[in-house]
Amino acid sequence: MEIYLAEHAGFCFGVDRAMNLALKTGEDKDCEVFTLGPLIHNPQAVERLEESGVEVRAELENISNGAVIIRSHGVPPKILDQAAERDLELINATCPFVKRAQEKAKELKEEGYQVVISGDKEHPEVVGILGFADNEAIVVEDESDFDKLADEQKVGIIAQTTQSLENLQKLSNYLLTEVSELKVYNTICTTTGQRQNEAAELSKKVELMLVIGGHNSANTNRLAEICRESGVKTYHIEAVDDLQTNWFKNIKKVGITAGASTPNWIIKEVVRRMEEIKNEEEKNDVEATSLTEGEIVSGKIEEVSQEGISVDLGGDTEGFIPKDEIKEEDFEEEYNVGDEVEVEVLDPEGEDGRASLSKKKVDVEQAWEKVEEIHQSGEIIEAEVNDTVKGGLVVDIGVRGFIPASHVAIEYVEDLSQFVGQTLKLRIIEVEREDNNVVLSRKVVLDEERQEKKKEVLSSLEEGTEIEGEVTKLVDFGAFVELGGVEGLLHISEISWGRIGHPSEVLEEGEMINVKILGVDEEEGRVSLGLKQTQPDPWEEFLEEYNEGDIVEGKITKTVDFGAFMEIKPGVEGLIHISQLSHDHVATVEEVVTEGDVVKTKVINIEPEGRRVGLSIKELESPAPKQKKSKPKTTTRDNNNNNNNNEGSGVKLGDVFGDLFEE
Ligand code: F3S
Repeated sequence: MEIYLAEHAGFCFGVDRAMNLALKTGEDKDCEVFTLGPLIHNPQAVERLEESGVEVRAELENISNGAVIIRSHGVPPKILDQAAERDLELINATCPFVKRAQEKAKELKEEGYQVVISGDKEHPEVVGILGFADNEAIVVEDESDFDKLADEQKVGIIAQTTQSLENLQKLSNYLLTEVSELKVYNTICTTTGQRQNEAAELSKKVELMLVIGGHNSANTNRLAEICRESGVKTYHIEAVDDLQTNWFKNIKKVGITAGASTPNWIIKEVVRRMEEIKNEEEKNDVEATSLTEGEIVSGKIEEVSQEGISVDLGGDTEGFIPKDEIKEEDFEEEYNVGDEVEVEVLDPEGEDGRASLSKKKVDVEQAWEKVEEIHQSGEIIEAEVNDTVKGGLVVDIGVRGFIPASHVAIEYVEDLSQFVGQTLKLRIIEVEREDNNVVLSRKVVLDEERQEKKKEVLSSLEEGTEIEGEVTKLVDFGAFVELGGVEGLLHISEISWGRIGHPSEVLEEGEMINVKILGVDEEEGRVSLGLKQTQPDPWEEFLEEYNEGDIVEGKITKTVDFGAFMEIKPGVEGLIHISQLSHDHVATVEEVVTEGDVVKTKVINIEPEGRRVGLSIKELESPAPKQKKSKPKTTTRDNNNNNNNNEGSGVKLGDVFGDLFEE
């Protein structure tokens, strides 16, 4: 990109003079210094003056003392008079070109001419000139104002200093045939004409013009107008911040000019930024034109069609991604014009002069990188199941992923098709990029979730509390009970206060039961449960119901060398020691009682702490002559229960009698 700066851009002679005068006055004066209206039509320059102590006042009435600077546009004579009356120090910075127009207006008026001003009637310069013609001049802005001059015969024309020569000529030509006497003074500032001519010339040889200056500056607006009239794209900016880099895309030549009220430092900032933009453009051009096969580049989507996507790679380089090189089948909906895309160069030249590109390759590469990253971090991902194949499921995680059937769930799943379309939580357990192989597992995720749940439940279980659970399995040594994520063991000894041979005598699989938590081992994940603890303790009942000396009847549950055990009530057994079986000598227990016999006994001893009851048959009988195998009268045989099992019996021998009776 080439940049051309107009020779006469920025402060004109008049503005430069006014600005320097104002800055110097602001620095030198001890009193307050004001300008009547903004010194020049440029907000940045006005700010700089304020920093130097020169403030803007719209009216003289707002200034009570100090110095007042008249700006380059000039003012009507009555303002100068009023300033003198108010005893204000007057610093007149009216541009000499404007002063000449004022003087010519005064002169013509005094000579009896109808003064006509070619210009903008609202502009302060014109308002000032009007004052010098006793406010009786006619202002002509364009041809539509010509009819205001119909009855005039002796006319003198002057022009606003920034007026175009063409307008002045048109007005003069019109009046030449309409009036008897005509005087024309070309009061147009030569600087303005020169600047405008330069702008017109420059705009013809560039593709874009920048006109710098305040939006309220008449001469800057006129410059922009002249540039546009030549057909070139023109931007009117106030300062560097207004520049937009996209204006210069594919632009090779840029012209810059600036209004007469535009400070040099603003022009310099714009030129410097333009140089930067130029360098960036050139860099982009170099990057875009030196494509190599396999290179990854980025560009902006210019067009999306059925055939593929056109990409602007910067500079003059364009590329095309054929639809086969785009992963998404619905790419027409997925991608939009203006989107930034990363692509791999397949062929820098391409078949039609555009580089041939692939989006798919970049996507796959990025997907692999992501997969490896996730595999290393162990992160859990979610993916939708696309299909079932022999031995497992297929998911899309940017690349094809496989879930073996054994990893689909914790338990074996017969019908895998039920998962198609479902989004599953998965962990990558194997990546073999060379073989295009990614293996995922849902089972490990479920396992972890289960362990987590188990931990939660374990920590919520409190020893001694009761909880409801489902009997899931009966085994010889007890039952397993599901407690909402944790399985607890109900040992056979904790099922019933009475003696049972197998848990199935009391429980059924699938049954809901209330159990007491006897112990929790969080580390081992074990919970021990008790069922009998949720029921009344038969020993306590026994203590309330029976006393030593009571006669009780019960069934012999077991015979041992040193005696026989009798069930007093379910859960409570007493021992009839061999010495308490008979007054006679008893060699073996079975001479007197056998399992299943129902006998009457006397309670001869109760030990609450040891949960022991001593019973006696002997004490219920009078001593009798010694005879072999004499059955006590208190004994009856229970034929239904002589099979030597312990069904219906209560507390275990060791539990009840400890080592007291172990002989
Ligand atoms: Fe004066 Fe011309 Fe500038 S009139 S203020 S030198 S544009």
